[in-house]
Amino acid sequence: MKICCYNDGAPGLIEDGSIYPLNDALAEAGLVRARASMAEVIDALANQSAAAAAVARARQGKPVAAASARLLAPIENPPAIWAAAANYRAHQTEMIERIGRHDDKLADPGSEKSRQPEYTKNAARAIKPEYLVLLGVCTHLGCLPQNRFAAGASTDGVLTADWPGGFFCPCHGSKFDLSGRVFAGVPAPTNLEIPPYSFTDDAHIVIGLDQAENA
Ligand code: FES
Repeated sequence: MKICCYNDGAPGLIEDGSIYPLNDALAEAGLVRARASMAEVIDALANQSAAAAAVARARQGKPVAAASARLLAPIENPPAIWAAAANYRAHQTEMIERIGRHDDKLADPGSEKSRQPEYTKNAARAIKPEYLVLLGVCTHLGCLPQNRFAAGASTDGVLTADWPGGFFCPCHGSKFDLSGRVFAGVPAPTNLEIPPYSFTDDAHIVIGLDQAENA
């Protein structure tokens, strides 16, 4: 998916040389406010399960020719923006415990076939287990996995009672646990990717820079 900020700052979906306005469809679904910022739109696209349907509705709308618009910020793949996905500080013990229960159901429990810096190749896939940093890009075909942190069956029926909490990709149903490890038997072949990152102090993460480079 390619989105952009165009003309007077409106968010749009770019497809085949056309821009489909996104704000109204997302606002009608109650996912953003009218005249939302790009950050709010990206956040809704990345984290709201209803966003996919809203984007589909936006595609039915009247497009603007991309050539006639002023493109302020085309973004190739919005979920590829580095994403600090979760702060587990308040629930660290519970989260670590939940991660440890289902290795036998995972495709790559030890992250041997998946992409992450060496320093995150541990049980929590993190430098500090209370902070998880993942790319919000499904390793199947690049859709936006949703945060589905609550354990147990979901009201929309896609997650069953044995769900331990994690990330769910609505495009083809791939499931990842709370450290981004992919469950076996879903289309995604590998765990969610972890970018290089480092801490400057206890409260600040620099994403895109290894600790060694950030020393
Ligand atoms: S893109 Fe996520 S399951 Fe296909």
